[in-house]
Amino acid sequence: MTSVSRAAVTARGLTKTFGDDASPVHALRQVDLEIAEGQVTAIMGPSGSGKSTLLQMLAGLDVPTAGRVWLGEQQITGLPDEQLTILRRERMGFVFQSFNLLPALSAIENIRLPFLLAGSRIDAETTHWIDLVVERLGLGDRVDHRPQQLSGGQQQRVAIARALATRPAVIFADEPTGALDSVSSSEVLSLLRSAPTEYGQTVVLITHDPGAASYAHRVVLMNDGVIVDDWAGGTTEQIARRTVGGAS
Ligand SMILES: Nc1ncnc2c1ncn2[C@@H]1O[C@H](COP(=O)(O)OP(=O)(O)O)[C@@H](O)[C@H]1O
Ligand SMILES: [Mg+2]
Repeated sequence: MTSVSRAAVTARGLTKTFGDDASPVHALRQVDLEIAEGQVTAIMGPSGSGKSTLLQMLAGLDVPTAGRVWLGEQQITGLPDEQLTILRRERMGFVFQSFNLLPALSAIENIRLPFLLAGSRIDAETTHWIDLVVERLGLGDRVDHRPQQLSGGQQQRVAIARALATRPAVIFADEPTGALDSVSSSEVLSLLRSAPTEYGQTVVLITHDPGAASYAHRVVLMNDGVIVDDWAGGTTEQIARRTVGGAS
């Protein structure tokens, strides 16, 4: 059997309703989505359109009201928490706007943290891999620094190194450049863009910034809990023009 482009993540009928029956908030309404393996998919849309909720559901960080999610062939909806935690640890990486680095640990200790949490030894091959990632991210002379001794861009690169360290199948990034200046932003985005080609990863990038989305192979536009547009991306200007209707 040959598969042309396999889905790294699949969602079917994904629905999330917050609040109670009297005043429900429909954050996601019956979303169907396939995220192609080895690509960067940008999820765009105005504030409150359901982007972060979608990411939480895709990563199994929260339980949908209805619908199902698969990571590759594996259905994650309904999996016991313990199994989900292991799956996330082994096959997903996360990069958030707020870096989420532990201030008491050095950069390299933060990068190794997932292994510590998983109770797994870092073997020689993994050590080599982490060295490679650290060099590639230009963090070679920063590994012993604490987060507060690093610039915002460097901190976010540490967070990306941490996400890459375990060689996850999918990296979920929610507004990863939201707190960065434009130079740091483009560094971080080109790294995320090179992850699929250099490291074989799939990247789901949430952003409201057309410039950030221009790094993606595909752009999915959300509004009010549904996908309203879906196309092969383009330049910053093209994306800005095409999202203007959805972002009003
Ligand atoms: N934990 C929550 N409890 C109640 N409402 C929520 C919660 N999380 C998100 N929402 C609501 O769901 C909608 C979508 O939010 P969100 O996914 O954060 O949007 P985005 O990331 O696109 O800004 C918004 O109306 C938001 O207020
Ligand atoms: Mg959000």
